[in-house]
Amino acid sequence: MSTRPTQRPAITLTKLAEKKALGEPIAMVTAYDYPSAQVAEEAGVDIVLVGDSGAMTVLGYPSTVPVTLDELLMLAAAVRRGLSTPLLVGDMPFGSYEVSNEQAIANAQRFIKEAGCDAVKLERGGTSIERARAIVAAGIPVMGHVGLTPQTATALGGYRSQGRTAERGLEVMHDAIGLEEAGCFGVVFEAIPAALTELIMPRMHIPVIGIGAGSATDGQVLVFHDLLGIYDGHAARFVKRYANVREAMVEGVKAFAEDVRTRRYPEPDHGYTIAPDELERLHELMREMRGEPFTGGLSL
Ligand code: KIV
Repeated sequence: MSTRPTQRPAITLTKLAEKKALGEPIAMVTAYDYPSAQVAEEAGVDIVLVGDSGAMTVLGYPSTVPVTLDELLMLAAAVRRGLSTPLLVGDMPFGSYEVSNEQAIANAQRFIKEAGCDAVKLERGGTSIERARAIVAAGIPVMGHVGLTPQTATALGGYRSQGRTAERGLEVMHDAIGLEEAGCFGVVFEAIPAALTELIMPRMHIPVIGIGAGSATDGQVLVFHDLLGIYDGHAARFVKRYANVREAMVEGVKAFAEDVRTRRYPEPDHGYTIAPDELERLHELMREMRGEPFTGGLSL
């Protein structure tokens, strides 16, 4: 398999800021492995996130909480190998940044050094604002994430939209502004009312990427497996299905199994040939082997 060369210049933080200034929408998707990275590359998106959603979509965990830093680093390194143009963001998993600024910096550095990410993302306002500031001060670009923050969904009352009371809406706004002030280059707004997004947007000077946050944001993100219909689990209300890849995959594997069972696969074209004279020599060698021990130096 070959990686198709790309002619487009790499997406930088400056380019993203420019896009916001020009009102050009920013497209972001998640990816978790080499082929999904190649698809994102060829599709020409601006940002690729190795999301902790990979815990559920590719590792089969019931939530994003159990995924480890090492697991995400392995996925991120695979994505890096398939990606050259979009900005690559590694999602810091639950438990990898909450304890102290030192812990957050050390683990963010692993995304950059070991997986080749350009930036990291962390969830929530509150103490995460301080962590974001520390990571930025250590020279690593950070993306924030407010609204529905799946790593702490239990504390938020489950996987439900956020900011639906005046107080909670204000909190979401303070979190977003706090992350911007901490030096984040961008922030994700997840599952908040469109009207709340519209109220916050005039106060944001960094790119805001929405997922279930209405259309007023500077860009949109969807989980790769959701938008392509690969993941079979519950899909949130904001997911739009652009393909049904899982169905095509099941059909393909079913057809293969059926061909194997009915001996329709493989056909002669799927195999390799041997020159007739080599085949004749092979027959001779085997006849000799069956007679007296063969001493010609070939080990068969
Ligand atoms: O993990 C993830 O996929 C995310 C996106 C939903 C932004 O955080």
